This record gives sequence, C-alpha cells and structure tokens, in this order.
Amino acid sequence: MRKKARINRREVWNMKIAVAGTGYVGLVTGVCLASKGHHVTCVDVDEAKIQMMQKGISPIYEEGLEELMHESMDNLTFTTDYASAYKDANVIFIGVGTPEKKDGSANLTYVYKVAKQIAETVEHDCVVVVKSTVPIGTNDKVEAYLNANLAHDVQISVASNPEFLAQGTAVRDTLHAARIVLGVETEQAGTVLKEVYADFDAPILVTNRRSAEMIKYASNDFLALKISYINEIANLCEIVGANVEDVAKGMGYDPRIGNRFLNSGIGYGGSCFPKDTKALSWLASFNDNEMKTIKAAIEVNEGQKLKLIKKARKYYDEFEGLTVAVLGLTFKPGTDDLREAPSLVNIPLLLDDGAKVKAWDPVGVKNFKKHYPDEIEYCDTIEETITDADICFIFTEWEDVTQFDVNLYKKLMKKPIILDGRNCYSIEDFRGTGMTYDSIGRQCIQEA
Ligand code: UDX
Repeated sequence: MRKKARINRREVWNMKIAVAGTGYVGLVTGVCLASKGHHVTCVDVDEAKIQMMQKGISPIYEEGLEELMHESMDNLTFTTDYASAYKDANVIFIGVGTPEKKDGSANLTYVYKVAKQIAETVEHDCVVVVKSTVPIGTNDKVEAYLNANLAHDVQISVASNPEFLAQGTAVRDTLHAARIVLGVETEQAGTVLKEVYADFDAPILVTNRRSAEMIKYASNDFLALKISYINEIANLCEIVGANVEDVAKGMGYDPRIGNRFLNSGIGYGGSCFPKDTKALSWLASFNDNEMKTIKAAIEVNEGQKLKLIKKARKYYDEFEGLTVAVLGLTFKPGTDDLREAPSLVNIPLLLDDGAKVKAWDPVGVKNFKKHYPDEIEYCDTIEETITDADICFIFTEWEDVTQFDVNLYKKLMKKPIILDGRNCYSIEDFRGTGMTYDSIGRQCIQEA
C-alpha cells in the first residue's frame, strides 16, 4: 500500500503549475508550491512587477516570502505571457483579486478574464483551481464557461481551493495551514490536488465545490463576527467598568469559544474581512435571505473605526491647530497593506478639522504617501512623531510601539494624551504618571 502511494506521488511530483495573479494569494501560493518542488510559472499583467520578481524582489512585504522565493528560484518562472504558462500546465491556479463592487458584491471580472485566457490557450487536460474568494456557485459557472469556450479538445475540471492565509504570516499559513480545503466534483481533480499538496503539513478536507466556496466565506465572516462581538463587549465594558482583556481571557478558557480573535480594538480591516462580510451579506439578500449576524458585524465595525476620534473629542472640542501624532498606518502589523485600515478613515477627518498630522509606520509610509503625499509629516521614529504632539493615536500594534518606553510620551509630548486603538500597553503603566491613557474596553487613566 505504502509503495503504491509513493509511486503515485512520484508520477505527478514534478507538476507543471501555472498561477494567475501575483498578489498576496497568487504569489505566496506560487512560491510555496515551488518550494515543494513543483515547476511554477507565475503570471501577471503588470510587466514592471514581473520584472521585479524575475530579479527575486517581492512586490509585497511579507515575512519570509522573498527568502523562500530566492531558495525556490530554480522552480519559479515569472511572465506576462499567459499562453506559454497555461498551454501545457497540469494545474492552473486562479489567484486574482475579487474586489468589492459598489453594491458589496464581488467583482469577478479578473477571474473571467483569466478563464478566457485559459480557454483560449490550454492544449492539455488540466485542473483549474479557483483560489480567489468567489461567491458560492462561481466554480460551476467558470467550468461551464471554460467548456463552452475551449479552443482545443481537452478535458478541464474546475476545483475550489480557498485560501486562508493571513497577511504577515502568509508563508507559514500556507506551508503549515490549519486545513487545506479541496472542493471538487470529479475524483480525478481530487487526486491531482491531493498530490499537489502531498508535501504540505496540513489536514486535507475534500468537499463539493459549493461547500468549499462557502467554507471560505463562513470562516472569514465568523472571525469578523467574533471581532465585532468582542468590540461591542469592550464598548460595554467601558460603560460598566469591566476590563475587556480579562473578560476575553475568561471567555477564551472555554474551548468552545477559544482564545483567539478576541482582541478588541478599532475594528478589523484588510483585504478580506470587510470585503467578504459584505459579499456574503449581498449574496444572501440577492437570494431573498438576510444574514442578520453578518450585517451587525459590519455595522459594529464601521462604528468601531471611529472610536478614537470620538474619544479625542472628550479632550479637545476641535482639532484645528493641534499636532496629532499617529502611530501605525497599516491595517495590522507585519504588512504594508493599507486596505480598509482605520488610519485611512481617521486621518482625513483629522486633516479636515485642521490638525497637523505627524505619522510613523515601519513599512506602510510608502503606500500611505500615494494617498497623502504632502498633507502629512512622515517621521522616521516614534520619538520624532510624538515630539510636541497634543495627542497621540495608536492605530497599529507594531512591536516598536508595544515595546516603546511609555515614559517617553510624557517626556516628549506637549500634552501626553494617548489614545490606544490596539491596547498596546497595560493601563498600570500609566497610573500615577500624569498622562492620559484611553484605550479600548478598559478603564481610562485620565491624569494629563
Ligand atoms: C484574514 C484571515 O485571518 C485569513 O484567514 C483570510 O484568508 C484573510 O483574512 P488578514 O486580513 O490578513 O487575514 O488578517 P487578520 O490577522 O485575520 O486580521 C484582520 C483584521 O482583524 C485586522 O485589522 C486585525 O487588526 C483585526 N483583528 C484581528 C482584531 O481586531 N482582533 C483580533 O482579535 C484579530
């Protein structure tokens, strides 16, 4: 039995894999597959990005990605020439974006663009794997589209293989995933994909395609719901004098609840939770259904993002002429991604009100400058940012912030009022220091 398994594996071991899209999902998938010995061609329309990657430079900041890219370069090709990549691939992954449309639904333009290119170019039987997050039923439609448009006489199966990687830990999350979900309608697609992932350290769950598509949305939306839930609890903790961190800890001991994703703060951001909650909610209403819990999670999150601004009004009637220090611009630490980051909601409000904004972020400044090239004073250090500030907003829990000597706020700020949207410090660090420290779901120390 064992021998057979080994022989089978060798037969498909050096698979030719094409990956469409070199964003977080596509690039990380491609590099991780190459690191396991597959021959991977990553395809993108962006010539400049392809040239960077050919030189071994990752266009995104992701821990360990560039190193793994260098190690796996023998198995990696980067190209804009999709025809050469798809024509004889055993497996083609679609990892392009499915951005949110104005009505909240997922925009599938890029998925179908790739499907069209695949249909025109594949010359051998292959499995097309949809990794992008797509509404339930999309895989069926992609398969029907391919079958109706294939230029050559080949057999194609479409499989759903949703991605669960989180930014900042994407490589680890892919190589050591909590689970690999394979949504297939044919045995052959399941067999091929199990071989693709044979060397990955993760349990494999095989389902039908629609269930796999739903697992992705249901998982992301559940995590978003968990965050909004703890944020609402945090808001109530502030009113009734409880401490949300202790509350979350107490809840987390219960294995039915679990202790992760119970950190309260100024809401979730990023490329997934905001988009996927809206997409599932849209999909439900489109089918005359209503996802009441998800709608509530979205609403709570939108309010939560404004929490620090509301707190700031307790200390200043207006921001005109104030120097405001901002620590952290990205939606979370470990990434340079700004999508749906609270900083993008709050900083315009501060600027509109006439505040002078000084901002620091270890990796997010380059991207933030694309939105605000001149309106903000970007600083290289936390010390420089808080110097002479009238108030400080913390939006991202970068380690530089959590490890920062809190006495320096008192020493350097004009008025040491710190609004912490990520509960970076213990409130005890501020008691009796003459500073004001206002965080989320915990007692406010008001001494400045
Ligand atoms: C998420 C999912 O974790 C991942 O499985 C999916 O594939 C994509 O979406 P990501 O958006 O990269 O990943 O980051 P994640 O670490 O999940 O954080 C998302 C947002 O939630 C961040 O803004 C973070 O600050 C916030 N968050 C997370 C909280 O506010 N509290 C928590 O306890 C956890």
